[in-house]
Amino acid sequence: MNEMNSSAGLVPLTRGIPPIETIPSAALADCARELLAKDAGRLFQYAALGGNKGDALLREQLGRQHSCDPEGIFVGNGSLQVLDLLCAELRPNGDFEVVVESPTYDRALGIFRRHGATLLGVPVQPDGMDIEQLEALLTRHRPTLIYTIADFQNPSGVTLSTAKRHRLLALAREHDMIVVEDLPYRALRYHGRSPPSLADLADGARVIGLCSLSKTLSPGLRIGYAMTDAATARSLAHRAENTYLCASPLCQGIAARALSQGLMDVSLAQTRQTLAARHDAAWRVAHRLLGDALMARPDGGYFMSALLPCAFSETQLITRASDRGVALTPGSHFFPPDRVPAQHFFLRIPFQSLGADRLALALEAVVDATGA
Ligand SMILES: Cc1ncc(COP(=O)(O)O)c(C=O)c1O
Repeated sequence: MNEMNSSAGLVPLTRGIPPIETIPSAALADCARELLAKDAGRLFQYAALGGNKGDALLREQLGRQHSCDPEGIFVGNGSLQVLDLLCAELRPNGDFEVVVESPTYDRALGIFRRHGATLLGVPVQPDGMDIEQLEALLTRHRPTLIYTIADFQNPSGVTLSTAKRHRLLALAREHDMIVVEDLPYRALRYHGRSPPSLADLADGARVIGLCSLSKTLSPGLRIGYAMTDAATARSLAHRAENTYLCASPLCQGIAARALSQGLMDVSLAQTRQTLAARHDAAWRVAHRLLGDALMARPDGGYFMSALLPCAFSETQLITRASDRGVALTPGSHFFPPDRVPAQHFFLRIPFQSLGADRLALALEAVVDATGA
């Protein structure tokens, strides 16, 4: 069990924290030692200011990995902070309407809210956002941006199909909306082939990629980045300088060295192997216990999810689950307020940290707690 996630010994069906065995800590420590032996003076100083988008070697490595121009990459302290800066950058003076998947990542919802956004939720289907509902919504609203986690979505585990990616981008072009594609789980595919990214298919639509090393190398390094055009990246850099001066040179230096030495590829291969086994075992258990309530088989990432009929309020259910030994995240937190499912509990299942036996006990306890 991840102790950070456990409260009083409960089985945690809460946060999506990387299992410690998937973080290449010893190799990263070696990188840090080698780096400090030759460059400590620079790494313990502020980075140069004046539109600094982040460590040059790191941006070069990230550009190679994503086949994009390093000039368009801005590196911040984790991708959530980059999303926060992006909102400040893109928010219009008037109404700020944001299309989100419903459900979506709760912390992203919090950021949009803090920027005064009106949240326009579009339901998620087993193959991603319901494009018909998006189309209908666009007859009544003029959103600035669409936020999507197109691969192995947090919290549902769903991946947007290629056909829907094309339709989403066509709507973005037609309605002049910016697509923010949050990609932290895209590299964690355990089966099958990935659809092209939205940025790859953009064809004139404005797509800004958000990515992170939190799930592929180390969350403690706090490296997140935007992939956009050079002018926007520069503007984000100025905003960052006016807020916190610079992201940590030491952490960026370690990440740059790890990537240039190929550590990320090795680590990713091991992570995929470990989590593929966990995913498969979790799917068998979840399918047996939850059946049709499951949203989709994810084939990657950290999460599965289910919509469970529930006779109790969410607060009551969480207490009942806790009495039965399971800690739950309130499912309603993943939805815009007007989209919270009635008489159901939305269950996110972070399978990345749990063995099949404990997961089975936890899911049995949750089903029992729903009163079904
Ligand atoms: C969709 C999504 N975006 C962003 C993040 C946070 O990434 P970071 O650690 O880079 O801030 C997470 C982490 O759970 C996530 O699921």
